[in-house]
Amino acid sequence: MSAGDGRRWLVTGGAGFIGSHLCDALLAGGGSVTVVDDLSTGLRGNLDGAIAAHGGRLEFIEAKASDAVLALDPSRFDGIFHLAAAVGVRLVVEDPVSAAETNVAETSAILAFAAQRRVPTLVASSSEVYGKGVRAPFREDDDIAFGPPTVSRWSYGLSKALDEHLALAHARRDGLPVVVARLFNTVGPRQRGRYGMVLPRFVSAALDGRPLEVHGTGRQVRCFCDVRDVAGALVRLLATAACHGRVFNVGSDRPVTVEDLAQLVLRVTGSASGVVHVPHSEVFGPSFEDLAIRVPDIARIRAAIGFDPAITLERTVADVAACASGIAGGLSGGAA
Ligand SMILES: NC(=O)c1ccc[n+]([C@@H]2O[C@H](COP(=O)([O-])OP(=O)(O)OC[C@H]3O[C@@H](n4cnc5c(N)ncnc54)[C@H](O)[C@@H]3O)[C@@H](O)[C@H]2O)c1
Repeated sequence: MSAGDGRRWLVTGGAGFIGSHLCDALLAGGGSVTVVDDLSTGLRGNLDGAIAAHGGRLEFIEAKASDAVLALDPSRFDGIFHLAAAVGVRLVVEDPVSAAETNVAETSAILAFAAQRRVPTLVASSSEVYGKGVRAPFREDDDIAFGPPTVSRWSYGLSKALDEHLALAHARRDGLPVVVARLFNTVGPRQRGRYGMVLPRFVSAALDGRPLEVHGTGRQVRCFCDVRDVAGALVRLLATAACHGRVFNVGSDRPVTVEDLAQLVLRVTGSASGVVHVPHSEVFGPSFEDLAIRVPDIARIRAAIGFDPAITLERTVADVAACASGIAGGLSGGAA
């Protein structure tokens, strides 16, 4: 076990996809981490590597974040990363009540906990906050337009927008040092396809020899950022006092169509699977609206912390495939 540097972090949702990589980064940086996760979508096994490498500096509490903080003292922590949430549009469309309640009530509880001792806190928000997107690329101070509340798809973005309001209100009222990280499509090992996330779905289809299901035309433009670049950025955002009280886009600004992503997965995995197109209405119901373009402007985070995503999409796809097929290391074909 490696020695620590005495800094203590609380990570809600730390057994999830992004949270577990964040724990890796914090532990590798010498800190001690308390993870609170109810394992609703996360997996205890996501922390196996961290436990093996730094076991004594990782505490795991299986609980809802709002319940766990009732028994914790905020002065124990040098910083809080709040990632616990009902994640993804599919989960929200399937169970809109608990998704909206989780996202708002849990964030409210964590911010109140942090505010007691002004513990620096990062709140994970989402590019879904941009709603329909009034222009591209998306800038942090853009106006926002959502569809009507009769369409449950928008409740995820709205709940995250309310989280942001709550976080910034605590900053103003209580002097809470808070950072809002608006995450765009984040990809990498340990992400699960179960909740509709596109890359793990594509990779598992390619490895199983099934056709890759592209929702809609495939001409939608997205930017995919490797989770290891994202995790490092979250650590630096919270550590930089000049970032407190502000909102940051976190993601890659290199656009790719979903069709191109499918072709890249086929090439990197060497799969003979084809691609089929499935209308959005078949997957998410008749009133689903998809965004044609989702591209962040990352000038603000670049200026603040020198953010420059380093891991190529080819390498990410290779690592996701290696992780999914249980092969140690990357695949040879196409890995950068
Ligand atoms: N993955 C992306 O591309 C993406 C994009 C935008 C925003 N985000 C945000 O990043 C954060 C992490 O997302 P992720 O992709 O790692 O998803 P994930 O589902 O893997 O992680 C969420 C974690 O939170 C846990 N959780 C849920 N409700 C909880 C509760 N009430 N108490 C304790 N734990 C709870 C889950 O078990 C899971 O481990 C979320 O806030 C999400 O909204 C992710």
